[in-house]
Amino acid sequence: MRSLPWWKEAVIYQIYPRSFYDSNGDGEGDLPGITSKLDYVQQLGVDAIWLSPFYTSPNKDGGYDVADPRNVDPRFGNLDDVKALIHRAHELHLKVLADIVPNHFSDQHEWFQAALLAAPGSAERARFHFYNAHADGTPPNNWISLFGGPSWTQVADGQFYLHLFDSSQPDLNWDNADVKEDFEKTLRFWLDLGVDGFRIDVAHGLVKEDILENHHDPQGLSNALRLDYPMEPEKRNELLLTVPYFDRQGVHEIYRDWRKIFDSYGDREIMAVAEAWVHPPINATKYVRADELHQVFNFDLLTAPFEAAHLFEVINRSLELNATVDALPTWALSNHDSPRVASRIGDEASRALSLFVLALPGSNYIFAGQELGLPDGELHDSDRQDPSFVRSGGLVKGRDGARIPLPWSGDSTPFGFTAGTPWLPISQSWQSHTVEKQFKDSASLLNLFRAALALRRQYLLASQEITWIESPIHGSKDGSILAFTRGAFTVVMNVSDQSKEFNIAGEILLASSGDFQVSVGKKLLPARSCIWISN
Ligand code: NOJ
Repeated sequence: MRSLPWWKEAVIYQIYPRSFYDSNGDGEGDLPGITSKLDYVQQLGVDAIWLSPFYTSPNKDGGYDVADPRNVDPRFGNLDDVKALIHRAHELHLKVLADIVPNHFSDQHEWFQAALLAAPGSAERARFHFYNAHADGTPPNNWISLFGGPSWTQVADGQFYLHLFDSSQPDLNWDNADVKEDFEKTLRFWLDLGVDGFRIDVAHGLVKEDILENHHDPQGLSNALRLDYPMEPEKRNELLLTVPYFDRQGVHEIYRDWRKIFDSYGDREIMAVAEAWVHPPINATKYVRADELHQVFNFDLLTAPFEAAHLFEVINRSLELNATVDALPTWALSNHDSPRVASRIGDEASRALSLFVLALPGSNYIFAGQELGLPDGELHDSDRQDPSFVRSGGLVKGRDGARIPLPWSGDSTPFGFTAGTPWLPISQSWQSHTVEKQFKDSASLLNLFRAALALRRQYLLASQEITWIESPIHGSKDGSILAFTRGAFTVVMNVSDQSKEFNIAGEILLASSGDFQVSVGKKLLPARSCIWISN
């Protein structure tokens, strides 16, 4: 097999620290809790973990409001706990990615506190985007925050500061030398502590242009950026091409500088993945040019309907676009910002799609709990903590449903997650989803994931090409089957609601549904299912 950098086709397991495992009974997950469960992670067969933020934070946006990027929030532990986690992960041959948040700080960061005390025009304010109000007292422009409401907040002396997210998350000014220097220091800090790379939050947002200009349709733009908001695709595409604060040329200069830092760590093969929602899709490939970052998230499958033509189009497009810069795509079906895939497309379809996607060339990002088939948790509004729920006046339900803590063991909630009261309630209906139960059940999704990851590692990675044999434009064009070959395997998925006959020779190695039937000369692929066949 060709020797590739570790990250090239890695399977990366996303851990939301607050929801993974609570070691001290305070109802919230923590770093020692994660360390104690790394054996479980290793037994899944993944290559790396990505830790969502655990830095000092008032936690107004689940830790993406960072008050000290080089320290640990006491709710999660301390720096020694990070060292212990990295040490144990490396013993288990797991790489560790930290989540870096360069678009904004928390308003509790000492820089912002100093900026509030300093005068307009001061060096302290220059690290953020402070501007005077218009003569009529209105904010410098009409942009709407991604969490709803104006993206400007006024301070006591009348100036406004920009925040693309919550008012507690002031945007940093990347034209300011202090900002650049401080982030380089942060990168080196975590790399020197042993992390193997970074997930870069809002990687496309750092550089703003034309800050004093109004957008012609701020509400439309805000709706277009909300994936749960129904809109004609043409209208959405048109608006997304006009976002004034995303994907400016200047961001690439920042990543070129960061790449030099990563490469200076030599054979440690440091990698970084960009969270970059950009439009049109070809623009995403710029982030993975040879002298920039290593991977860029591909969000298509977080929203794609379970439908052959659509899935074929987005998968194929991603493979083709990445090939133009000699990169491989990344795939994700769930993360901490989106509805869990099992809730979005249903249990059977999500099992099938998981198996299908694990066979594709590129990296897979698996959000903890996805391997257990967790749905979104049911919550009362009074439980919700997401700022998008609060800022939209409850109009947007927010992302808490995907962030419910993991069920580990036992028959009653909170299923071993904590000895205390979990920070979000865990439904009793998750009884059958626990790690403990699924480990014992050979037909569980957990064991399907484990088997798929083992086969993937052993056989699939030898080849990075796929050949479509059935799709809306290849093969029988049945409209409900997607199939491709990759190296030693053929992967077939039936997206329809009926079982389908198929006549592909070879031994069935894995099936997302136990109901497939094989009798002489006739094979039936159940509705919403996927199989891996050895050629
Ligand atoms: C993207 C993160 O994934 C999300 O959770 C956060 O709210 C925003 N960036 C702002 O940091």
